[in-house]
Amino acid sequence: MRKKIVIGNWKMNKTVKEAILLIEQLKPNLRDIEDMDIVVCPPYVSLASLHHLIVGSNIKLGAQNIHWENEGAYTGEVSSKMISDFCEYVILGHSERREHFSETDEIIAKKVKIAVENNIVPIICVGETKEQRDKGLIEGTVEKQLEKNLSLVTNHSSLTTLVIAYEPVWAISTSKVPQVCKPKDAVEVISYIRGIIEDRLKKDVADSVRILYGGSVDSDNVGNFTKEEEIDGFLVGGASLKLEEFVRIVKKIGEK
Ligand code: PGA
Repeated sequence: MRKKIVIGNWKMNKTVKEAILLIEQLKPNLRDIEDMDIVVCPPYVSLASLHHLIVGSNIKLGAQNIHWENEGAYTGEVSSKMISDFCEYVILGHSERREHFSETDEIIAKKVKIAVENNIVPIICVGETKEQRDKGLIEGTVEKQLEKNLSLVTNHSSLTTLVIAYEPVWAISTSKVPQVCKPKDAVEVISYIRGIIEDRLKKDVADSVRILYGGSVDSDNVGNFTKEEEIDGFLVGGASLKLEEFVRIVKKIGEK
């Protein structure tokens, strides 16, 4: 049995003060949740402050990005070596980074490699656009993304903790008029991803990789997904910014 995991991706939201407040409120509300990894990914500027606050709690920290080198002349960038003081996880290959910051699968592969070298667990996001879905290119798209994104990691046993998030691009950030993937469709792609991983990695490594769903998850729809055994958890964006909403989501996942 893989341990469930829920990840809150705060994106470019919350000042340090607001981030501290949310974490201080989340801690007592989530204290009793067992058998689940709870990860929040705030902007870089809040990591150091939150790191002190989560000591002794069941909340873990992740970053939303890293550079592919440990240090150097890369103005404005932050390295995995730097965040390794605070974070256990890092989101890589998010569709917003692929789209707005032109991150290619090759760049993501370099980031995955350096994250693993710094003992940070990559949360690799894959998923098709609406256009690719309409053309029947879902499986081919996620397969190509995963193959490339994992291509530079040669020590496969370092991937036992790997997290993969299946996030159909058309379902992300649609909270006003939620465009959520049907659970059955998500399961189909997630099972396909599991097959790819089993094909490429040793069985014991593949068995422990967690594969999540992400895309407009909220407390109303999460229950439809938690029934599906193949889904090991959720990557939650907008709904993770609201205290009550995130707590409800985490508790619903814990009920199953
Ligand atoms: P959303 O974001 O839940 O707001 O759709 C998910 C994500 O981008 O990871």
